[in-house]
Amino acid sequence: MSFTLVDQAPARLNRSEQAVPGSNTKFLEKAAKGDADVVFLDLEDAVAPSEKEQARKNIIAALNDLDWSGKTVSLRINGLDTHYMYRDVIDVLEQAPGKLDLIMIPKAGTAADVYALDMLVTQIETATKVDKRIGFELIIETALGMRNIHEIAGASPRNESLHFGVADYAASTKARTTAIGGPNADYGVLTDPLDDGQRAYHWGDMWHYAIARMVVAARAHGLRPVDGPFGDIGDHDGYRAQALRAAVLGCEGKWAIHPSQVTLANEVFSPSDKEVAHAQAILDAMEQAGKEGKGAVTLNGRLIDIASIKQAQVMVDKARQVRA
Ligand code: GLV
Ligand code: MG
Repeated sequence: MSFTLVDQAPARLNRSEQAVPGSNTKFLEKAAKGDADVVFLDLEDAVAPSEKEQARKNIIAALNDLDWSGKTVSLRINGLDTHYMYRDVIDVLEQAPGKLDLIMIPKAGTAADVYALDMLVTQIETATKVDKRIGFELIIETALGMRNIHEIAGASPRNESLHFGVADYAASTKARTTAIGGPNADYGVLTDPLDDGQRAYHWGDMWHYAIARMVVAARAHGLRPVDGPFGDIGDHDGYRAQALRAAVLGCEGKWAIHPSQVTLANEVFSPSDKEVAHAQAILDAMEQAGKEGKGAVTLNGRLIDIASIKQAQVMVDKARQVRA
């Protein structure tokens, strides 16, 4: 281990992160009764400019009147470059004090963006004498944010998670796609002729670098990495495949922009019984190895060592967190 220890953000289940537009009161009511681990009440891109004020009022009413117990509740404010943002923060925190768990900052571009929000939220919390400290979720969805991701991740002790906002990221990087996440048929590799003379075409994952970079930045700062939206809401297999790719790289969850995606995310980001049983077998085998003074042994023909204990522990801890 390095001599530098990384503080971990408060442990929260973050398998599914449901987006709910503040302009739709029915959706707000449904989300409060749903199964998402985290619900973010949206004031940003799912809300038209003409609806921003009413959406804010709806969210304040929803926070005060609905039962959100069992869920983490977040507020996606408008960008720091808009004139909506200050009212989003001040109105919601003052008129629904102590109700929010998190604020989601879209298009975080620099550490100073996070610092500015921290200052504002700290002042409001002090003035309203609310003890519960709000955490921050940061969406990395611009080239600037991706460049500065490490500074952003370390910019405030309120930071809890990084999110990959694939749609805005594609726009910002001028990627040649109009889809919201998922694979792209044009991003592939054509092999040289194989033994039978035929050439094969393999689709690649055009989001691999961005998600992998986000995972590293998040974990290096003790934050949760969370994959963003998948726009094809009817394509459950496609969603599951994207979620699995993110899970394998280390993400803790994925956004759900439709209630059906909540179920899929909860399923994908909960380790299966088989995975947990295998992880437990590793822990048991290594405990026995320790008693015998060994640092490495084989289990089912594969080498396991002390690093395997840490890997297996991640799986077992996650299963415990899901059960709690
Ligand atoms: C999310 O905000 C995205 O832009 O994908
Ligand atoms: Mg976005």
